[in-house]
Amino acid sequence: MTIALDTATLLAQLTQLGIIGHDVGGGRTRLAFSDADKQGRDQLFAWMQELSLDIKIDYIGNIFGTLAGSDPALAPLMIGSHIDTVINAGMYDGCYGVLAGLAVLRALRQAGIVPRRSIVVAAFSNEEGVRYQPDMMGSLVYAGGIDVAQVLDVIGTDGTRLGAELRRIGYAGDLPPGAMVPHAYLELHIEQGPLLEAHATQIGVVADLQGISWQQITITGVANHAGTTPLAMRHDAGWAAAELITQVRRMALASGSTLATVGSIQFSPNAINVIPQTAILTLDMRDPDDQKLSAAEAHVAALLQTIAAQEGVTIRSQQLVRFPAVHFDDALVAEIAQTTAALGFSQRQMTSGAGHDAQMLARIAPAAMIFVPSQAGISHNPAEYTSDADLIAGATVLLAVVQRLSM
Ligand code: GLV
Ligand code: MN
Ligand code: MN
Repeated sequence: MTIALDTATLLAQLTQLGIIGHDVGGGRTRLAFSDADKQGRDQLFAWMQELSLDIKIDYIGNIFGTLAGSDPALAPLMIGSHIDTVINAGMYDGCYGVLAGLAVLRALRQAGIVPRRSIVVAAFSNEEGVRYQPDMMGSLVYAGGIDVAQVLDVIGTDGTRLGAELRRIGYAGDLPPGAMVPHAYLELHIEQGPLLEAHATQIGVVADLQGISWQQITITGVANHAGTTPLAMRHDAGWAAAELITQVRRMALASGSTLATVGSIQFSPNAINVIPQTAILTLDMRDPDDQKLSAAEAHVAALLQTIAAQEGVTIRSQQLVRFPAVHFDDALVAEIAQTTAALGFSQRQMTSGAGHDAQMLARIAPAAMIFVPSQAGISHNPAEYTSDADLIAGATVLLAVVQRLSM
């Protein structure tokens, strides 16, 4: 049976959600459990109500909208992603997957079709992990990978306690995490990288996702006068940070597959004529091969010792995140590939470079992902862009796979 997607509503909702948390000069910021996140959630909640979905919220604020199937004995099919953003984000990351999920349910409603299996659209809390670590937090909690009490106590980069903020915005729900174990989990997402566009391919069939390691590194030296302290007598936390940044790039280049990024750094006292006393920086490392990622972590640990000895500073490292590489469900990946081929879209099997909620749901259910191209591979940036045609192609594949798995 052919069921039509209401693509105009999907595209309009993406734009409408993208306006919430708008930054002066472009982009939007909806950090997890902030006022802007609340506004985005309220909008999503209203759209779920318009579709008469059964809406539930769990202890960590994950939002689930369910279209009931005709056979309550069958485990539900779950489709989802996230609507929180990084700082000054684009409008597609995460939001596309959630709103395409709603578009699938709208198409079924409009066609008057009741699937056999219930279909749940999920918006997982704090996927981005910018304000509170770890990232993919809502889905990790949902999959039982971390205790909910532990994450409610997490202190954010702004000094706030997560649990207090969740309650403040009104999204501390009463559904225990993991209450609905899905038959399968599907996540549609923009690629956030350059490969699909470079190969003029419409659909990415995601077979696996690389391992992720995050650490916060604190370097402590001695603040001193920039004009009077000979170079050889300095204990310069700033120089040590710079050396580390340079060396991790060298390491990553030599490995051939490891990626290493220092995305945040703070000097103290941060003054033009004072040698930095402290530098606090973050290191994000990723590799599809877990052994290589572990080797990179060991290399960094040794580097920290060398640099500390060289400059006479102390260096402490705190692990914030360590997620292993994930291999998605072979049968579900094959199902997506076959459906994409049957619809006549070009496709490419690929590894996800970004972290996604699907990697956590893969712990409790067969999971897989569908990617669509990102123009110039730009993401986590207001310039993030995917053409309407590509967005519609991805939603079309999602709808077809959902039909096959839920009817
Ligand atoms: C999530 O966006 C990530 O950092 O991969
Ligand atoms: Mn995302
Ligand atoms: Mn993201």
